[in-house]
Amino acid sequence: MTSYGDSTHLLHAGRTPPEPGQPFLPGPVLASTFAIDPVAGPAPGLDTYGRTHSSTRRNLEAAIGDLEGGGCLAFASGMAAVSAVLLALVRPGEAVVLPADGYYLTRAWATSALVARGVRVQLVPTAGPYPSFDGVRLVLLETPANPGLDVCDIATLAANAHAAGALVAVDNTTPTPLGQRPLDFGADIVVASGTKALTGHSDIVLGYLSTRDETLLSALRAWRDATGGIPGNFDCWLAHRSLATLDLRLARQSANAAAVAGALAAHPAVTSVRWPGLPADPSYVVAMQQMRRIPGIVTFELASADAVARFLGASRLVIAATSFGGVHTTADRRAQWGDDAAEGLVRLSCGIEDTVDLVEDVSAALAVL
Ligand SMILES: Cc1ncc(COP(=O)(O)O)c(C=O)c1O
Repeated sequence: MTSYGDSTHLLHAGRTPPEPGQPFLPGPVLASTFAIDPVAGPAPGLDTYGRTHSSTRRNLEAAIGDLEGGGCLAFASGMAAVSAVLLALVRPGEAVVLPADGYYLTRAWATSALVARGVRVQLVPTAGPYPSFDGVRLVLLETPANPGLDVCDIATLAANAHAAGALVAVDNTTPTPLGQRPLDFGADIVVASGTKALTGHSDIVLGYLSTRDETLLSALRAWRDATGGIPGNFDCWLAHRSLATLDLRLARQSANAAAVAGALAAHPAVTSVRWPGLPADPSYVVAMQQMRRIPGIVTFELASADAVARFLGASRLVIAATSFGGVHTTADRRAQWGDDAAEGLVRLSCGIEDTVDLVEDVSAALAVL
């Protein structure tokens, strides 16, 4: 499949060739238990129980694994996948490096629950400078980091971490595997929320991890089999169905972000704009080196929480909501969640509205400030 373009690839990822009389994507297998041979008992290759076996989940994992370039395990949420990596692979007494400016809950959970388990947690800003990785078990990178959108050079950091004997995991939520394939740059594991652009319709909570290392994959599979953080079969099916339009959705979201970032940058009420696709952005050079697409997320700052409220009140298309990557444009004032961000900092997730409509709407909303 790799010689095809993204959309062609997505239409066939994780699917078997068409068969007369069969749907293009088999429907969800809604089963918690499967019949077993009453005499021989369970047999290898035959499904027995839903926590460990699901053809619907396997189809989705085949598709995502194909996109990331590794084996894949789907999880009930992004946090289920992130926590699986950190709990299954890091032991008490070991050390991890996490992004200081990445998804706040990863940091908040790790600095409470992981530290309570005796794991040493060091927080480092995505843009660096990075410390020596000597004595570190696992380095988690998030690039672009959410919500500040700084990026880091995965290949260089992975080489440094490997030289020190550390594993590297990359949170690939924001770019999706169409925007960036961390395993190609030497990362050991990709971890992500599929809740965002990957599935993109604001109706599924999902997570996954991907790796080329069979030993890591089987350790993580054993962890998931035992702890049970699996996604439901209907959600797996819906996610797989949604992948078919990922290329189209990302293309419009990215085009909308480019146009909106330009409009924001030109407005005097906007004190800063971050979008890694803007040539003046501090992330631009590294983003161009390692990303195939720039996501539809633009982070900008207004003077205050009140200014954000007025902006949102005046917009007819931008929906105030958390999360990102969906087909509707949404805006989230991150400080309201306890993120260490300025009161007026907004993460704007561009949807798939017509670009002219979105720019007109954002410009009209800015005009009230
Ligand atoms: C970068 C990143 N990683 C992980 C997560 C967690 O994903 P979920 O909400 O699916 O658990 C999020 C959620 O916003 C995220 O933005």
